[in-house]
Amino acid sequence: MDKRIEALFARRSVRDFTGDEVDRADIRALLEAGMAAPSARGLDPWRFVVVTDRRLLDRLADVHPHAKTLKHAGACIAVCGDRAVAPDFWVQDCSAATENILVAAAMLGLGTCWLGVHPRAGREESLKKVLRVPDEVGMLCLIAVGRPKQLPEPRTRYDETKVREEQWT
Ligand SMILES: Cc1cc2nc3c(=O)[nH]c(=O)nc-3n(C[C@H](O)[C@H](O)[C@H](O)COP(=O)(O)O)c2cc1C
Repeated sequence: MDKRIEALFARRSVRDFTGDEVDRADIRALLEAGMAAPSARGLDPWRFVVVTDRRLLDRLADVHPHAKTLKHAGACIAVCGDRAVAPDFWVQDCSAATENILVAAAMLGLGTCWLGVHPRAGREESLKKVLRVPDEVGMLCLIAVGRPKQLPEPRTRYDETKVREEQWT
């Protein structure tokens, strides 16, 4: 594990939160990190819905089949993309923004979990309804954000067998 890039190894999925609120300044920093991601042709198709209302967080947790963690999260960021702005690459652009948010949160001592939405069509439609996201906008994922009950250990998943040199064969 190279210490110079430790922030990346410290990003781990956290599903156990204290239930405390997340500072607005921290949310702002996370959004700024998301918007610093690369995007195809610099079109920045990402759009974010920040949810802190407890009833809405509970509703999202009920609708998403694998997001019970939202019941105790302090906030949720729905990462959405305007398909009209970037029909080809909104998914990649929003994925880059999502990863930036996750790593920035780890640097701030916050816990996060990427909760997949797109391309599960039924899930995406139901969650978009809860947050009143318009038709032309896709929802890539929800990010649960909160104070972790305990911070997971940084870890590497480096695997030599997944690397080839110069050419595949
Ligand atoms: C596209 C995507 C969808 C995911 N969806 C969920 C999810 O619905 N619920 C969940 O608890 N974790 C979800 N995760 C988190 C993964 O389970 C987690 O990243 C993986 O097990 C590796 O663990 P780590 O994040 O601690 O390194 C998702 C991650 C990705 C990249």
